[in-house]
Amino acid sequence: MTHEILVIPGDGIGQEVVPAAVRVLQAVEADLAFVEGEAGDHVAAETGEPLPQEIRERAAEADATLFGAAGDSAADVVLPLREVVGSFANVRPARAYPGVDALKPETDLVFVRENTEGVYSGIESEIAEGVTTLTRVITERASRRIAEFGFEHAAENGYENVTVAHKANVMRVTDGLFLETAEAVAAKRGADYDTALMDALAMHVIMHPEDYGVVICPNLAGDVLSDLAAGLVGGLGLLPSANVGPDNAMFEPVHGTAPDIAGQGIANPSATILSAAMLLEHLGYDDEGQRVRAAVEGVLADGPRTPDLGGEATTGDVTDAVIDRL
Ligand code: NAI
Ligand code: MG
Repeated sequence: MTHEILVIPGDGIGQEVVPAAVRVLQAVEADLAFVEGEAGDHVAAETGEPLPQEIRERAAEADATLFGAAGDSAADVVLPLREVVGSFANVRPARAYPGVDALKPETDLVFVRENTEGVYSGIESEIAEGVTTLTRVITERASRRIAEFGFEHAAENGYENVTVAHKANVMRVTDGLFLETAEAVAAKRGADYDTALMDALAMHVIMHPEDYGVVICPNLAGDVLSDLAAGLVGGLGLLPSANVGPDNAMFEPVHGTAPDIAGQGIANPSATILSAAMLLEHLGYDDEGQRVRAAVEGVLADGPRTPDLGGEATTGDVTDAVIDRL
């Protein structure tokens, strides 16, 4: 069966790293048909709307979407896309790779971030001049869904440690529900787990990343902690992610449009190629996904490397080397 993949490069280095990842996907034995869609600042500049209705519909219909990044319009592009594909889990693995100068080479953990609510619910207002509010939404349904997904992800991928991050000592009602629900899921599965206050976790994960496997987080905490973990393993050029729903998904690097290096052909394509590997596995191409990951690991170990990793190679050189290894 042919799987239709919607490809949205977006802005900045999205235009460089997404075509690189598509070249890799075309080099593996997988029955994929690519449809390209445009979104982001450059589309907003022309039409006034960064994410055309037609692209939303295509994303909902495609079997999976591969997205690069959007600039100033990121929130108006990424959040609706995550929503139209029905994704409730944002999976962000942070792994150190041999050959890459990582602060903590023993890091191998995955943030499983709730992707639909929390402080990103969008319910903000200015109730009086100089006074603003935000409503933090935490529901039992979304908390249960993300906890079940996190424990399942740990079991399927061989992670022994599961940690539930929260701040229920302060946000007693909302994070109280998040924590309580995750604990009930763990009890039902008979799974071992730890809980951690998210601020203390931020410190501990820097000092002892080896203590963590899967970290289940409310939305904002997962966003912040996963960028922090990127710093442990050598930078944003290495971090892939998946937005997973019951029957659709979107894959994207954690990084943004990198305006400081955009257009120079030197962006590290690894994060996007690793996102493509997650896409392959999501569609059932497990062997192909593993082969892509192994090829990226080989190139990270032996070079060539882009400047963010201390090398002088271009995006194209790294992509060619990954494809050669396949
Ligand atoms: P950024 O991730 O674009 O860049 C941060 C730093 O990491 C920069 O120094 C950049 O050069 C470097 N970097 C990122 N990806 C790299 C790669 N593949 N290879 C080599 N170096 C890389 O984050 P920043 O600067 O905060 O945001 C820039 C723009 O991107 C903003 O307009 C922001 O709104 C947008 N953004 C979009 C996201 C999305 O679409 N999902 C996510 C984050 C930011
Ligand atoms: Mg972020």
